[in-house]
Amino acid sequence: MKKTIALLPGDGVGPEVMKGAVQVLKAIEKRFGHEFNMNEMPVGGSGIDTSGTSLPDETLQMCKNSDAVLLGAVGGPRWDGHSERPEKGLLKLRSELGVYANFRPVKSNAAFQDMSPLKKEIVKDTDLLIVRELTGGIYFGEKTRVDERAEDSLVYHKYEIERTVRIAFEEARKRKKKLTSVDKANVLESSRLWRETVVELSAEYSDVETEHLLVDHAAMKLIQDPSHFDVIVTENMFGDILSDEASVLLGSIGVLPSASLREDDFGLFEPVHGSAPDIAGKDLANPAGMIMSAAMMLKYSFHMNQESEAVEKALQEAFNAGYRTGDMRTGKFQHVSCSQLIDQVVYRIEEDAVSA
Ligand code: NAD
Ligand code: IPM
Ligand code: MN
Repeated sequence: MKKTIALLPGDGVGPEVMKGAVQVLKAIEKRFGHEFNMNEMPVGGSGIDTSGTSLPDETLQMCKNSDAVLLGAVGGPRWDGHSERPEKGLLKLRSELGVYANFRPVKSNAAFQDMSPLKKEIVKDTDLLIVRELTGGIYFGEKTRVDERAEDSLVYHKYEIERTVRIAFEEARKRKKKLTSVDKANVLESSRLWRETVVELSAEYSDVETEHLLVDHAAMKLIQDPSHFDVIVTENMFGDILSDEASVLLGSIGVLPSASLREDDFGLFEPVHGSAPDIAGKDLANPAGMIMSAAMMLKYSFHMNQESEAVEKALQEAFNAGYRTGDMRTGKFQHVSCSQLIDQVVYRIEEDAVSA
């Protein structure tokens, strides 16, 4: 199969982990006989540096002309004083591409169980999916600043809530048939609209058990009893915060991937973590979140399930063989660099091809 993929490495550790996705895709291309046409463009701080803007027109055009987009990370202290923030480019990209449903799977497995600072018996059965609304809410409302008064508005239209919640119900149907909708309906009007919409839609999904949790309660329950959850659906900012919290269940934000989707097969795929300025340029970053984002692209945008599973398997085997980056908190295993872990994953994809 021929596919065109836009590569947006971005800033900080973005380019370091992007190498992992590219090398893994090249190995998949060879093993399964596909043709991936990959083109790299700047975004975020690197867009500001090269074109004076965090989302250059050519970058956006190339993304629109591709079958899928892979993004590393944007941002960093280097652009703090600049009139435009690198993050603006990422938000504009998500909005322009209309990828409103952001899937953030959090699944524990044997390789991860000793990594979390939480007790093993609490985290071991974690298998949840956060569906985060990605193109609305407080991120995209009007922002004003007049003297000592600042304002960010949180606006949701019913259609924005409905389309994301519907996708979450569909995912729950394919999984353990449980949906937790997270809001702050005791305080926010937008959350009351959110909850009403979920209640309305739940009538169409009577085979799915639906519950509503206030976000503060959900934040507690997520680390107290993570196996309570199957699919969590929530608005943009709550989803952002809860997903970083959920990464603690696996021990590192470096391993969490994401897929941002819309109605057709197109998608934007990026790790949940940021540009990690504290470790950037040192070959220390964990490339797993980026590599798993590429695996999600193979699955969701290209329907290449076997290829996606081959990536996941190679990564797990590399972890199980003891190759772990420094963020994976455990003394037992040898710590390798970002590029060494990438090599180990690529080697396992190729080796499987030989033994198959
Ligand atoms: P961060 O996710 O970059 O880092 C948080 C912590 O996790 C740091 O200690 C970092 O070293 C560690 N970490 C992150 N990714 C890692 C990886 N792959 N391997 C090992 N350790 C990893 O969050 P932050 O420090 O709050 O933000 C830094 C910058 O990144 C900011 O400018 C922020 O806006 C941006 N950011 C971008 C994205 C994105 O592009 N999607 C996401 C989050 C944050
Ligand atoms: C994420 C990031 C972004 C967000 C930032 C960089 C704008 O934190 O993808 O989780 O808040 O959506
Ligand atoms: Mn975030």
